[in-house]
Formats: sequence, structure tokens, C-alpha cells
Amino acid sequence: MLDLFADTPPWQEPLAPGAVILRRRALADAPGLIAGVGQVVADSPLRQMVTPGGYTMSVAMSNCGELGWTTDARGYLYSPRDPQTGRRWPAMPDAFLALARACAREAGYDGFAPDACLINRYAVGAKLSLHQDRDEKDLGAPIVSVSLGLPAVFQFGGLQRSDPLRRLLLEHGDVVVWGGPSRLFYHGIQPLKAGDHPLTGACRINLTFRQTGSSNKNKNYS
Ligand code: SIN
Ligand code: FE2
Repeated sequence: MLDLFADTPPWQEPLAPGAVILRRRALADAPGLIAGVGQVVADSPLRQMVTPGGYTMSVAMSNCGELGWTTDARGYLYSPRDPQTGRRWPAMPDAFLALARACAREAGYDGFAPDACLINRYAVGAKLSLHQDRDEKDLGAPIVSVSLGLPAVFQFGGLQRSDPLRRLLLEHGDVVVWGGPSRLFYHGIQPLKAGDHPLTGACRINLTFRQTGSSNKNKNYS
């Protein structure tokens, strides 16, 4: 177990029941993760998706893993194929999977088996409005979220949209894990402030690992 209030990285900060921030936990892995993102987006480029309401998201997204999260005019969906390329999403790099599993375990969620990793790229001003991650069938598994590059303000509320929000600065290498009682808590990212990070330049990259409960190796995906 990591010392809860140690002052050398990484250290844990309790966030809510079932939720914890593993501060700087991904620091050592960051260069490899960023290289992995580069490989994934060479196959499945980052793109600004359009929500069912016709809103073009300010965050640019891609995915790796068996399934990828997408949105279009028809709704939200985990799909085995990238609708833009028609091909399967790139495989999840081993280093992504190993880090996500280790972080989940350290947060108290042993046996995490993510089948989807959403890649979010925030340029200056990009934001993610308050939402719940509720498109996964398996709500017993946590969400593991890795922050890279420029810092951003993360909002974390409760089960109701109107619940009071905590605002936390997420910095390069920070990992947030939420599950159990806080699995459906509302969260979002405030507009990114301008900056320059040695590894990511003018942007923030976030990886969220999800165990969707939708994978079925025997199913014939079209
Ligand atoms: C998300 O809510 O899916 C991403 C959050 C983040 O970018 O930190
Ligand atoms: Fe989310």
C-alpha cells in the first residue's frame, strides 16, 4: 500500500467514496504513453465529434482497444470500428493496459480489465461539460483517468447534476480512479488555459480507461 499522505510522489488523495487521485502516478510512464498516443492517432486520427444535439465537441478524440467511444447525430455508442476509417480501433498498447490495471488495483479495484481507452486532446479553451460516464454496461468496474501535459481543472460532483462540485487541478502524471459509490458521479473539465508543456506542447491529453461490459470475442462485429 502506498502511504496515504506521503509528500513524495506518487501520493494518494481521497476524492469521494470509491474515488481517489493518485498524484503523479503516471509520471515515469508519461513519455511512453505519449509515444503510444502518437502511434494510435496515426491510425485513428483525433477528431472533434458531433453530439446528438448537433454540438461539435471542443475536445478532439480517438480510441484504442477492442471498443471505442463515439458520438454522432444518432447517439453515443461503443463501437469496435472507427467510423472515420472503417477499420478496427488500434490495439491498446501493453503499457496503457499495465498502468490502468495497476492504478485500479492501488485504488482498491482489483481485476480491472479495460476494453476501451478514450483519448481526449484539449487545446486552449477546450472543455468537457459536466456529464456522467454511463454508456458502459458494466458499472461495477471503475473509470481510470490519466492526465498528461498541461494542467486542467477537473470538476467532480455527485449523483445529481446540481450537487456541489469539487474543483481539483489535475497535473501531468495525475491519475483519477472513480468507481463503486462514485462510479456515476458527474464530472467535467473547465476550459484549458494556455501553456507550453515540454512533452505535449500547447495541449493536455487525457486517457480514460473503461471496462464497457460490451466486448464479446465470439460476436461477429460488422
Ligand atoms: C472524461 O470525463 O471522459 C475525461 C476527463 C478528463 O479529461 O480528465
Ligand atoms: Fe467522463
